[in-house]
Amino acid sequence: MFSPQGPSLRELAVQALSSVERGYDLLAPKFDHTPFRTPDAILDATTDVLRPLGPFGAGLDVCCGTGAGMRVLEPLCAGRITGVDFSGGMLARAAEAHPDAEWVRADVRALPCTAEFDLAVTFGALGHLLPAERPAIFSGVHRALRPGGLFAFPLGAPPPLASAQYWALLGFDAAMRVRNAVWRPPFVMYYRTCPLGAVRDDLTAAGFTVTTAPMTRLGRRADGTPRYRLVLARKEADGPG
Ligand SMILES: C[S@@+](CC[C@H](N)C(=O)[O-])C[C@H]1O[C@@H](n2cnc3c(N)ncnc32)[C@H](O)[C@@H]1O
Repeated sequence: MFSPQGPSLRELAVQALSSVERGYDLLAPKFDHTPFRTPDAILDATTDVLRPLGPFGAGLDVCCGTGAGMRVLEPLCAGRITGVDFSGGMLARAAEAHPDAEWVRADVRALPCTAEFDLAVTFGALGHLLPAERPAIFSGVHRALRPGGLFAFPLGAPPPLASAQYWALLGFDAAMRVRNAVWRPPFVMYYRTCPLGAVRDDLTAAGFTVTTAPMTRLGRRADGTPRYRLVLARKEADGPG
């Protein structure tokens, strides 16, 4: 699962006993060698879906980490490109890799941007945000977009009950709940808190018009449904700011 350049088990354990922000500061130098960095296949499938919806002006990567989302924003956005994250360690790596982009250190639960972007994306971060926090985050992204702007992110189909992955994710979330009940600071990371229906409801409540598109390059499940869909949340051109 991890390459030889990735973190050791001990380093991962120390990270998991820290806060999310501190944990990512610690992991940052080796993050790109972990499976937590969004794979290029998912980024490229996102670009495939977004390309016909562009061109876009300014782009924002929400919870940018070391800058994986730049692979999507750079070819699609003609304007400035910005990543926002609360981990200074992750942002430092991102700035090294993409010196021409702008990097903002902020907690996305209080996103400090207003009507500045035409496209916002997020990868691999929704599990770090409690469902109760989603309305504030989605409202912040809505505020950060210009009228007509688009917020897009991939969402995997839930694994079937009979699959090993279903039970692995259930087990991970259960272990994380126990960890957070007995240890401070909490490390919020849950795999099963972002079902499409709930995410769609929260986006709609934040003012977005929501559709989804299959990410065909990422394949289909045994029942023929797509393994991943791209959620497309549009801020209406003539809607409330
Ligand atoms: C799994 S990493 C994903 C990084 C990158 N988007 C990628 O796909 O490779 C999650 C990132 O979310 C950031 N993050 C989590 N909660 C955050 C918050 N409330 N505000 C800002 N950043 C946050 C972490 O610091 C970390 O860099």
